[in-house]
Amino acid sequence: QHRDAEKKYVLSIDQGTTSTRAVVFDRTGRLVSSGQREHQQIFPRAGWVEHDAREILRNTREVIGLALADADVNRHSLAAVGITNQRETTLVWDRHTGEPIYHAIVWQDTRTQGICDELAAEGGVDRYKERTGLPLATYFAGPKIRWILDNVEGARERAEAGDLLFGTTDSWLIWNLTDGLHVTDVTNASRTLLMNIDTLDWNEEIAADMGIPLSMLPEIRSSSEIYGHGRRDSLLIDTPIAGILGDQQAATFGQACFTPGQGKNTYGTGNFMLMNTGEKIVASENGLLTTVAYQLGKQKPVYALEGSIAVTGSLVQWLRDSLQLISSAPDVETKAKRVKDNGGVFIVPAFSGLFAPHWRSDARGVITGLTRFADQNHICRAALESVAYQSAEVVEAMSADAFDALTELKVDGGMVVNETLMQFQADVLGVDVIRPAVIETTALGVAYAAGLAVGFWESVDEVGANWVEDKRWTPQITPEERARLMRRWKKAVTRTFDWMD
Ligand code: G3P
Repeated sequence: QHRDAEKKYVLSIDQGTTSTRAVVFDRTGRLVSSGQREHQQIFPRAGWVEHDAREILRNTREVIGLALADADVNRHSLAAVGITNQRETTLVWDRHTGEPIYHAIVWQDTRTQGICDELAAEGGVDRYKERTGLPLATYFAGPKIRWILDNVEGARERAEAGDLLFGTTDSWLIWNLTDGLHVTDVTNASRTLLMNIDTLDWNEEIAADMGIPLSMLPEIRSSSEIYGHGRRDSLLIDTPIAGILGDQQAATFGQACFTPGQGKNTYGTGNFMLMNTGEKIVASENGLLTTVAYQLGKQKPVYALEGSIAVTGSLVQWLRDSLQLISSAPDVETKAKRVKDNGGVFIVPAFSGLFAPHWRSDARGVITGLTRFADQNHICRAALESVAYQSAEVVEAMSADAFDALTELKVDGGMVVNETLMQFQADVLGVDVIRPAVIETTALGVAYAAGLAVGFWESVDEVGANWVEDKRWTPQITPEERARLMRRWKKAVTRTFDWMD
């Protein structure tokens, strides 16, 4: 394709769990400008987490304006727009009015436990694993749709009449930024429990089991193609929307993990480690998910194994907002550094149950190993360490499932500026931890997907060449010490089980 010299940038919209960002990138993958808005976290009851979809849409429009104004970019200099998003977060709206019929139910929300138990009564939690790559768990979208249809007055009738649409936030934004295009991509669809992992279409039988009319579901498209164009009355008028990737898959793409065996770990509100398995669908025997990594246009899909951890960065937020032990997120490192170790304290933040590799929805968080010696510095240290221990358990599962021992780990996300955490991560893994120059890999990844679709970039090799190492941490403890720490961590994990009986 001919490169249009006027088109100098790609715009990414990153609709995350705590905020929405718009980021402009140039051809070298450099961040040119960005805008960001946080949205409210709504906690109506213990275990419930919601977002206001209208607020998210408002914020999205605002951040697009901010990013474009900041760089003095207009739509004529934009080659394409990509959308990446918090996955699984479930939204149902009216196809005629565009009004959401309920708040978005967030991926961390555990209210669908009863629905999952009921579905698992026949065939167990792995009932759909072979078809979808996923265990039955509150994390995924399908049971959340079911909850909305069961609990919002009149919803089921309206859904059956074809008046309601489901989407994760990628679909919601695209529906609103275009003239009502109802689509999603294979990576987002792979998190619903409703998509066949091999044929990449909706599974009618599972949808029927969950009581979800197929008419609600978006069309499943690849991660990189022109889906449509920005609405006439918007800042993105006529600009091609050409990339969609779930945020963790986008980070994998942004980290240039294009060959089997390459993987990354993202440190956000939760941690998500994805390992490219190529065209092969690897079924995990160690508590990992099988998911789609990406599909570029008509090419074959590329798969990944994923270890999802629900609570990492959000534990630091909890220390700040709920316990008020620190006044800002970086304080956690300042305090953690005041002590030489955790003083015997372990925190297992099973706030949404435990995800990978345990998948225990009955788990609840614990702080254990307390003595009178422990102070707030130890608690901060234990909080940081919990992030590294949880990731180390996921790496163990990855190695057991598919690959020889990991030789290094690429990292990204907000928490990788925390040097104490990165060093401890290398220590408990026993391998090097590597941070790239651009840690905005999520936004960058979907910029690549969108740019590749319109010929702004020619190939994955070209975008891969943009990846540059910034810093590397090397393990500094002995294997014996590592084994001792992991043993104690695993003991602490067992203390979280069976809290919901
Ligand atoms: O699966 C949930 C994940 O997509 C959320 O990512 O970065 O928005 O917390 P993040």
